[in-house]
Amino acid sequence: MKQNGKPAARSSRRLYEIGKSRIQGSGVFATRRIRPGQKIIEYTGDIIPNDEADRRYDEENMERHHTFLFTLDDDRCIDGNVKTNDARLINHSCDPNCEAIIEGDHIWIYALKNIQPGTELAYDYKYERTGGKEREKFYICHCGSAKCRGSIMLPPKKRKKKKAAKKSAR
Ligand SMILES: C[S@@+](CC[C@H](N)C(=O)[O-])C[C@H]1O[C@@H](n2cnc3c(N)ncnc32)[C@H](O)[C@@H]1O
Ligand SMILES: [Zn+2]
Repeated sequence: MKQNGKPAARSSRRLYEIGKSRIQGSGVFATRRIRPGQKIIEYTGDIIPNDEADRRYDEENMERHHTFLFTLDDDRCIDGNVKTNDARLINHSCDPNCEAIIEGDHIWIYALKNIQPGTELAYDYKYERTGGKEREKFYICHCGSAKCRGSIMLPPKKRKKKKAAKKSAR
């Protein structure tokens, strides 16, 4: 948009800030209106093989799941637990306003919706299901949305209905 013949100066203020979350611990909040499709922040950190991730985070002995790992592909993930990576503090929601997109060895967080200032940013972590029902407690979700599935893990895959038995020939 032009004002007085000059292009309007774009605000250099950051799109987000860190604050206390109602979901869990710290979170990331919009400071300005963010539009659908807008690129917000990169999820950075150390690119490590999965066995190194297992060494860094002893999930078996955690009371509840808490890591900063983001799967890149079958063999590698990004350990985002570095201070410069503000995206590590974005929480999960079952009704997210953001999405994480893998672009080569980079992970970017984009807005899915119009996000008003003060709103917490969240994307769906889409954790693969591990273990049975008892494992759900470990991944309990506190996103508070009406669509909450109760767990940060993906919902169980629906079983395909068996085709109705064919009528036997007379
Ligand atoms: C990458 S951290 C996100 C930042 C976190 N709030 C913090 O202060 O460290 C990921 C962890 O945050 C917690 N978390 C994120 N979203 C959550 C949710 N919807 N419900 C419960 N815990 C959540 C889980 O412990 C998860 O492993
Ligand atoms: Zn939820």
